[in-house]
Amino acid sequence: MTADQINDSEWITMTTPNTRKSPLRIAVLGSGSGSNCQSIIDAITAGELFAEIVCVISDVEDATILDRAKKHGIPATYISGAPFKTKIDADAQRQYIAHLQAYDTEVVVLAGFMRIIKQDILDAFDGRVINIHPSLLPAFPGLQAWKQALDYGTKVAGCTVHFVDEGTDTGPIIIQKAVSVATDDTPETLHTRILEQEHIAYPEALRAMVNNSLSASGRRISNTAI
Ligand code: GRF
Repeated sequence: MTADQINDSEWITMTTPNTRKSPLRIAVLGSGSGSNCQSIIDAITAGELFAEIVCVISDVEDATILDRAKKHGIPATYISGAPFKTKIDADAQRQYIAHLQAYDTEVVVLAGFMRIIKQDILDAFDGRVINIHPSLLPAFPGLQAWKQALDYGTKVAGCTVHFVDEGTDTGPIIIQKAVSVATDDTPETLHTRILEQEHIAYPEALRAMVNNSLSASGRRISNTAI
């Protein structure tokens, strides 16, 4: 599917009115430290996000994201994506879908999940899979985007929350946050500042989904609450 084939209804499939009585059921998939998952947990705990993380899944057995989830009493499961490194094989994909459906997942949140999500998962959660990427897309898709921005010499970097389509970091953009690049930035310092913005952006995007305040015109997503 190309960008201009995306119709208005394709990305906005949440039909729950903004008077929802039960929290949005979120599943988080991650491969690493889980600081974005933590920011969502914190927003929920602070009463800033009417949602519940129903499960966390990692493709890395000893990922810190699993420990963070367990600490908060969230079911945390390792599901291997092997034998591939950046893809999920068909059998693992079935396991992911079954697990997510068993928890009545409404929205799948990718937070540092280092595998490409394939069509079956996207079909199972139509328009309800979102990702965060540490660049101002469409600049610098792929790995270590903060380093790509620094090496390129951009003066502004940032992060993007977007719907997931079958491409890599190509889905319609929900929210972006920018940070200035300092002359003495290292990849680490820039990534740290981008992460701070990610921790604001993800809860904000999810709040818009809870409130059902996103609308789409082709690829252009608007938040009517802003
Ligand atoms: C973040 O920078 C995210 O944008 C990228 O991977 C990193 C994950 O960080 N996709 P964490 O696991 O949420 O701490």
